Amino acid sequence: MTSGREKGLVIAIDGPSGAGKSTIGRALAEEFGYTYLDTGAMYRALAVRALEQNIPLDDAEALARAAAAAFISFDETGKRVLLDGRDVTEEIRSREATRAASEVAKIGAVRRELVRRQQDLGREGGVALDGRDIGSVVFPNAEVKFYLDAAPEKRAQRRFDELRAKGREASLEAILEDLRARDHQDMTRSDSPLVRCEDAIVIDTTMMSPKEVLARLVGLVRTRISADRPD
Ligand code: DC
Repeated sequence: MTSGREKGLVIAIDGPSGAGKSTIGRALAEEFGYTYLDTGAMYRALAVRALEQNIPLDDAEALARAAAAAFISFDETGKRVLLDGRDVTEEIRSREATRAASEVAKIGAVRRELVRRQQDLGREGGVALDGRDIGSVVFPNAEVKFYLDAAPEKRAQRRFDELRAKGREASLEAILEDLRARDHQDMTRSDSPLVRCEDAIVIDTTMMSPKEVLARLVGLVRTRISADRPD
């Protein structure tokens, strides 16, 4: 059962928006000394590029060119997102960029480019990736696959609380509406829709605290790491 990867396992974390993937992905990576890769941030950074260059969100060719030309990177903490060296961490979270990200993520040529980069970044292992297609497309042979889910109302409420905690105005109804629209887009697009892989461990976080989710996942990864040690 050894992974054969140099730096550790590949941990895939998929699920709909707001299920807590990034919080848990980050915490898991920290626990095991792994790198955390927020693949959604890559689609978001490309969306920012499309918006600032007025590229129509259905112009597949122009978006593919923009994807190939964009240098998307993360700082050493994995928290700051850089687009051609410019910090776009806050910008990629705007409502406009969030909506545009869902559109650019539908384009096959864009996905191929970003998936290739994600595979390059994760191939040697020692990485936790969060996204929608990690277990199905980016790393179908990931050693551990999680699918985090939660009721839409709960996911919207978490997002609402997050914004309010930052002192930002927010409407719970608007958040829920956006979230349902994104779920629909992400689950019904023809290229790499969000799916639950058969070999993914499904965790419904609706009634769980982040601490409980983390404890569960850490336990499961530990078990897998023990199995990965050569005899
Ligand atoms: O996880 P997120 O909300 O930051 O993702 C932003 C958008 O990108 C969202 O619409 C889903 C899409 N996405 C994707 O299609 N594939 C991924 N691996 C990650 C995100």
